[in-house]
Amino acid sequence: MNVDFPLRQTDRATSPADRAKILSDPGFGRYFTDHMASARWTPDAGWHDHRVAALRPYSLHPGTAVLHYAQEIFEGLKAYRHADGSVWLFRPELNARRFRDSARRLALPDLDEHAFLASVEAVVRADEPWVPDHGGEESLYLRPYMFASEAFLGMRPAEEVVYAVIASPAGPYFASGVIGVTLWISTVYTRAAVGGTGPAKCGGNYAGSLAAQIEAREHGCDQVMYLDGAEVRWLEESGTMNVFLVTADGELVTPMLGTILEGVTRASVLELATDHGLRAIERQIGLDELRDGCRSGGITEAFAVGTAAVITPIVGFKGDGYEFAVGDNRPGKTTLAVREHILDIQYGRVPDKRGWLRRVV
Ligand SMILES: Cc1ncc(COP(=O)(O)O)c(C=O)c1O
Repeated sequence: MNVDFPLRQTDRATSPADRAKILSDPGFGRYFTDHMASARWTPDAGWHDHRVAALRPYSLHPGTAVLHYAQEIFEGLKAYRHADGSVWLFRPELNARRFRDSARRLALPDLDEHAFLASVEAVVRADEPWVPDHGGEESLYLRPYMFASEAFLGMRPAEEVVYAVIASPAGPYFASGVIGVTLWISTVYTRAAVGGTGPAKCGGNYAGSLAAQIEAREHGCDQVMYLDGAEVRWLEESGTMNVFLVTADGELVTPMLGTILEGVTRASVLELATDHGLRAIERQIGLDELRDGCRSGGITEAFAVGTAAVITPIVGFKGDGYEFAVGDNRPGKTTLAVREHILDIQYGRVPDKRGWLRRVV
């Protein structure tokens, strides 16, 4: 089904001078572009009122369902400027599919893949000058989301829903060279249970992770490494990233799907493994195996992957009463090579052999 998000241009666009100032140091999630896409849903009318118009605040009734029951989902993807000025998305079809899966888990209406892609592309086209120039590791971060907008108190799926896409310029994640992180292995908090919302990208998962993030910081760590909720023994994922291990005998191992988020970067790294002489394996990884492997040298590198940071080297782990380094406590060679490989594809510096890029402008 072809869906159009017609543009109603804002008459209050940010001036070119102000935009240039923002783009000189955008940070992450601090500034927003001039337009947003939106559509509304009710059971009778289905999806309607598709548009791209000026970014504007909502006026919400205090009884709006999402404020009470967190019936909400979101996505995150980026638009990249290539050397010739063109602008591209990286595997947005996977975000569209994950968004639909998240919607089903949160009892929100399906949004067709074409509508998802059309809305994202319409925002990129409307705010094209906000896509940072080619040359650094900058991009335009896109945030599609959907929430229960009906005002009522009670436990049932909302019958009024809003879908929207906003955009925010993103600076390089590692402004002064790629640095490694240390992860806190929490045994106090877990992220997901079998049958729960772990594989969905819903706001509630992230609200629940904030206390664990504080715990990690209190122990001098950058992020959390979650273990499974049943046995508190198997590696799951980090706060907003999937996790990989490189072994001395050439395996690239990552926790299997089930209660974790099916990352777009994770899927891509698995596919690129053979280009780096590695055998990709998805399976359960025990905390004991991680600890013993890092101590014996059987595990040589570890890294975390996600849209925001691309690939972050993990140089150490800490838990209650113990800590251990990965390799020589510095970002590993394979980690940096895979990172460069993905960035080269995203920024069009190597041929897109797998057809992962989708041109917008
Ligand atoms: C919990 C969690 N795991 C993994 C990821 C990585 O997913 P992706 O590579 O699609 O950004 C994210 C980021 O979206 C996340 O929030």
